[in-house]
Amino acid sequence: MRTLLCNIDRLYGISTPNKSGKPLAGKDMATVPFLSHAWLIIENKRIHSFGVMAQLPETSSDEVVDCGGRLVLPAWCDSHTHIVFAARRNGEFVDRINGLSYEEIARRGGGILNSAAKLNAMDESALFDQSLARLHQVMQQGTGAIEIKSGYGLCLEGELKMLRVIRRLKEESGIAVKASFLAAHAYPVAYRENKPAYVEHIIDEMLPIVAREGLADYMDVFCEQGFFGTAETERLLEAGWKYGLKPKIHANQLYNSGGVQMGIKCNAVSVDHLECVGDAEIDALRDSSTIPTLLPGAAFFLGMHYQPARKMIDAGLPVCLASDYNPGSCPSGNIPLLLTLGCTQLRMTPEEVVNSVTVNGAAAMELLSEMGTIEVGKKASLILTQPMDDLSVIPYDYGNNPVARMFH
Ligand code: NIG
Ligand code: FE
Repeated sequence: MRTLLCNIDRLYGISTPNKSGKPLAGKDMATVPFLSHAWLIIENKRIHSFGVMAQLPETSSDEVVDCGGRLVLPAWCDSHTHIVFAARRNGEFVDRINGLSYEEIARRGGGILNSAAKLNAMDESALFDQSLARLHQVMQQGTGAIEIKSGYGLCLEGELKMLRVIRRLKEESGIAVKASFLAAHAYPVAYRENKPAYVEHIIDEMLPIVAREGLADYMDVFCEQGFFGTAETERLLEAGWKYGLKPKIHANQLYNSGGVQMGIKCNAVSVDHLECVGDAEIDALRDSSTIPTLLPGAAFFLGMHYQPARKMIDAGLPVCLASDYNPGSCPSGNIPLLLTLGCTQLRMTPEEVVNSVTVNGAAAMELLSEMGTIEVGKKASLILTQPMDDLSVIPYDYGNNPVARMFH
């Protein structure tokens, strides 16, 4: 199957300053290289070739798509989501409007425990069906690769059910999917009086099975005051490493509780959230290869202060943005809206936000050799936009879907 995209006004993301699998950092995030008046050929779902219309080769194709007046760019790589869940938590949303905090709701047994109760009561096929519907929704908004976490099971059966659903989403969606094992998301009710025993249960009982069945790529921990401390995080991440699961963790969402430094110490691929970071965390990240992944959708929905993206980029760091799509802190996986938040609230430029969810999103899922840029041989995971002349229209035109058609 061969598809020719022709008359592309601008073909964005055609190369990166470095090709070493590393994210773009600091000033390198400021540009998204493009070709004007371009064509691109997709063959068997891969980028076969591309160039400028003045040098369009004579070629036969099964389909020709006229992209006049529109842009083509790499699909979004959303490196942090919890899209496998059983039910909305709109009741808690109303509780928060009426004055309860996210932490108070969690302390009262709501929050993650509320989601765990619902998920454990739902059968696997129903869970798959509604998760696939959410995945299809974000794919229509431009997502072409996604990381999905467990963490609403909080018991062996529930965690395995979630991870099997993620595996099926990977098999059936046609896009790249990475799975993270997040049993350390909250302490389940059964272990409330003996928290250390839950950590041991994850390490001794869950992890060996998850690893043996090849159900996860990464090990995640909600490292936070009131959830899992840095000592527990280190123990869990070291155990994950023994089974080949690299860390990608939740850090510094509610407090500056040492998660960033612990993630770096454990060689995490990324540390995610980072609402509560200061100069010490920025300095520590500068000396590491751990990718800071910011989730402004959660800060928006919980009414928290935003992450210091501008300061981080100006300090030379790579910044990745991701949705955090989940029923509690961010019930949306809409990346175009996230890009608007990146520009208006995090003071990133349109080019920086696009790089943060293409090149850097791919790097945060270790998919940069396959995705994130337009390069011959890479997966043809592409967005064809609605009519527009420049990528700044994507965050500008907020609330509208910039996607006319996806190629996967
Ligand atoms: O990334 N903070 C921890 N985990 C999720 C939210 C979990 C939930 O509220 O269901 C997050 O925000
Ligand atoms: Fe999260």
